[in-house]
Amino acid sequence: MVKLTLPENSKIVEGNTFGKEGKDTICFNIYRWNREDDKNPRMDKFHLSKRKLGPMVLDALMYIKGEVDSSLTFRRSCREGICGSCSMNVNGTNTLACLKPIEDVKFVDIYPLPHMKVLKDLVPDLSEFYEQYKSIKPWLNPKSKGKKEIKQSQVDRKKLDGLYECVLCACCSTSCPSYWWNSDKFLGPAILLQAYRFIVDSRDKNKKERLNFLKDKFKLYRCHTIMNCTKTCPKNLNPAKAIAEIKKLQVSS
Ligand code: SF4
Ligand code: F3S
Ligand code: FES
Repeated sequence: MVKLTLPENSKIVEGNTFGKEGKDTICFNIYRWNREDDKNPRMDKFHLSKRKLGPMVLDALMYIKGEVDSSLTFRRSCREGICGSCSMNVNGTNTLACLKPIEDVKFVDIYPLPHMKVLKDLVPDLSEFYEQYKSIKPWLNPKSKGKKEIKQSQVDRKKLDGLYECVLCACCSTSCPSYWWNSDKFLGPAILLQAYRFIVDSRDKNKKERLNFLKDKFKLYRCHTIMNCTKTCPKNLNPAKAIAEIKKLQVSS
């Protein structure tokens, strides 16, 4: 069972069932909650024929929204793992719905990202996450001023591989127990990976300030190398390694 932050004094109850179970159907169990109707969160069941679905979990959600229940709420945009908006928990793993194939299973359980407040159905409240992102100043402070192009060697550019691909989907941070319990103080793996991306950028002159900002028993050192972050990242990145690199730089700087 996914650990969710439920609305106060509420519990998850059984919801509505759409369609019937058949030989070629998959049952999608989907978390539903609408803060406006003052009811308990519920799990709705959607029995869908495999023949009508595209290959990915997001295709199933879009089918449900278009053909079965238009009130189902989720975020999506690019449909190809670039915008980072369709992050959710599918069968116990945080992932991007557009990159998650519908496997040959009978049931698919879909919840919002764990341990986040929910705005509606599968949409988490990421306000705090974005504030934390802002706190690391995610922009370049170039070494030279003016309009001149700032060149970067191929070797320096390569240092950004495995970092620039992060789509800020928050799958890693919301899979990290340290972040669950201290999300107000620990920056979490996604934001720390982003912080490292600017620390190692040869065009940025603020490396020292950036490291000083992170020198804190909560912001950085609440990472206890649990590794859930790296295991879950749908873009196959390694935030745990980025955090370890920041810790190494803290020692050597
Ligand atoms: Fe998402 Fe991976 Fe970036 Fe974490 S590191 S925010 S899981 S893309
Ligand atoms: Fe959490 Fe990843 Fe560290 S799961 S504790 S941020 S290695
Ligand atoms: Fe953009 Fe899934 S819709 S990452």
